[in-house]
Amino acid sequence: MFSLARTALRPSLAKRAARAFAAPSTTALLHTLPDLPYAYNALEPFISEEIMTLHHKKHHQTYVNGLNAAEESYANSPSVKEQIALQAALKFNGGGHINHSLFWKNLAPASGDGGKLTDGPLKVAIERDFGSVDEFKKVFNAKTAAVQGSGWGWLGYNLATKNLEIVTTPNQDPLLSHTPIIGVDIWEHAFYLQYKNVKPDYLNAIWNVINFKEAEKRLVEVQ
Ligand SMILES: [Fe+2]
Repeated sequence: MFSLARTALRPSLAKRAARAFAAPSTTALLHTLPDLPYAYNALEPFISEEIMTLHHKKHHQTYVNGLNAAEESYANSPSVKEQIALQAALKFNGGGHINHSLFWKNLAPASGDGGKLTDGPLKVAIERDFGSVDEFKKVFNAKTAAVQGSGWGWLGYNLATKNLEIVTTPNQDPLLSHTPIIGVDIWEHAFYLQYKNVKPDYLNAIWNVINFKEAEKRLVEVQ
């Protein structure tokens, strides 16, 4: 009914009517930067305080701001064509917000839960699907280091095969084909200040601060 009525309106009235039926812009401003579950220097010496501070306060905040701006523009777009034009911004900034929110919880200080894979369902599943924990890390690092440009390496749970698999996504694409269990940011902003261009050193070091307890929780929830 509304679409028929709208076509009968003069263009300026139609535009105003479309805006009236769009979601109010205030509903788009829902996303906020989550706090880190540890201090900025808590992952040293494996990930420096400088990297963590910039990564969280600047990079993640930028994705949050971009997502809120894109959602507000989307809500106020007067046409489907304009909404379609915003899809790339929604995907990039929304993916960035989702991925980084997962990533912070993926990590934990080495003095706490970081790097400790104890006996339990996650270790059993890793050994079943990769042969050993060392082999899993080796394959994960090789596939993640091979990401061209920027992206993410993932340990994902395949709901169809019920197996753990290593996959990568480009840019800030979120992992949709699998349920994310562990995600590693392989954008240069995640390691360059400390490891320069040597991705393998960053990838070898990060296992010391991977929060396997959080990973196991995600696996148990999805199984
Ligand atoms: Fe990042």
